[in-house]
Amino acid sequence: MGIDPNYLQKPVVRTHEEHEVREENKEEGKLGIHGRAVAVDFDLCISDGICLQVCPVDVFNWLDPNTQEMKKQSELKPEKNSQWKADPTREKDCIFCMACESTCPVNAIKITQG
Ligand code: F3S
Ligand code: F3S
Ligand code: ZN
Repeated sequence: MGIDPNYLQKPVVRTHEEHEVREENKEEGKLGIHGRAVAVDFDLCISDGICLQVCPVDVFNWLDPNTQEMKKQSELKPEKNSQWKADPTREKDCIFCMACESTCPVNAIKITQG
């Protein structure tokens, strides 16, 4: 199992850092999916960090969805399964190399070009 490939069909609940957020539901404890072109399912992300390392154009920041605190890749090496999630903060810079989608160990990322 991984991120729902049909995530774009779900309604947008808000925007964060100029990207869309879907499936977020605080009452149900769901962190939801951040991003449209570069979509990350925060409920699947285990803070692995390989996506931040392989992206050639530095699309991702670490985000703590509970406090909204953000850290650059160079500032943080979180423990696995921590509260830190890979936020596609600069998804507009994506060059669709697909490295993040193909290396995430839990298939939490889906890229949609166009
Ligand atoms: Fe980076 Fe993933 Fe795009 S690695 S360039 S965000 S496809
Ligand atoms: Fe999370 Fe997968 Fe990146 S687990 S930190 S989205 S490689
Ligand atoms: Zn976000």
